[in-house]
Amino acid sequence: MCYPGSLDAEKVAGKIVICVADDDPIAFRGLKRRQVVQAKSVGVILIEKEEAVLPSVTGIFPYVQVGDIAGSQILNYINSTKKPTATILPTVEVKRHRPAPVVAYFSSRGPAQRTENIFKPDKMAPGVAILAAMLPKIDEAVGDKPSEFSMRYGTSMSCPHVSGAAAFVKSVRHRWTSPMIKSALMTTPTAYDNTRKLLTNGSSYIANPHEAGSGGLNPMKAQNPGLVFETTTQDYLRFLRHNGNSEKDIRSMSNTV
Ligand SMILES: *[C@@H]1O[C@H](CO)[C@@H](O)[C@H](O)[C@H]1NC(C)=O
Ligand SMILES: *[C@@H]1O[C@H](CO)[C@@H](O)[C@H](O)[C@H]1NC(C)=O
Repeated sequence: MCYPGSLDAEKVAGKIVICVADDDPIAFRGLKRRQVVQAKSVGVILIEKEEAVLPSVTGIFPYVQVGDIAGSQILNYINSTKKPTATILPTVEVKRHRPAPVVAYFSSRGPAQRTENIFKPDKMAPGVAILAAMLPKIDEAVGDKPSEFSMRYGTSMSCPHVSGAAAFVKSVRHRWTSPMIKSALMTTPTAYDNTRKLLTNGSSYIANPHEAGSGGLNPMKAQNPGLVFETTTQDYLRFLRHNGNSEKDIRSMSNTV
């Protein structure tokens, strides 16, 4: 499983190493990869428990993830020969992947924890394998210059998409307030994917509103939603009061005296 300290540097040096994922928070993959890199291996194959693997943060180190079916085939192959060999080929671009978008399996599900009266999640935005520029990280470099690009996952990736969409709407609708822009972004998402079927949830079931929110972000349509809802600070304060927050707490949160 490539736990820290488990690799024999002498055996691993110059080899492609196979690690099997156990309980696998995404961050753990990076950790496994680092173990293997430090042990001077030349590549790593990570076998995931599930077949639905997502490409992970790769840096420039030869690295590939496979599901449990391919994984057991690889393990059987290794067992079948004295000198197993492997080649990790460069990543290829897959254009017009279908279906897309899909709710990522790790995406937070609603309802909101404190009240079901507020619909959560708000909407979907791209957050899987987002390739972007980043500060070069020394530990991701192996015998070469650190990469200035990386792939990342999660809300931290989808948030900038939504922020960009909000800025785009604001550039056309100068007078709209932030809540009005949020309203426009939330009343215009699409319920369909690029196969013209209803959005799905990662295991091919139709995504419910607690998975997809109001649907897939649609910045073009958000310019002309037909109607926008304003939400004032007062509305938020009333909401907090209604949900059992004390006046003292609300004052400290809202900065009002
Ligand atoms: C490989 O072979 C050994 C010995 O025959 C066996 O114990 C082991 O389960 C095999 N592993 C796989 C992944 O097939
Ligand atoms: C997708 O929805 C089905 C039916 O509601 C559910 O059983 C399944 O766990 C969901 N998959 C994911 C990845 O959330």
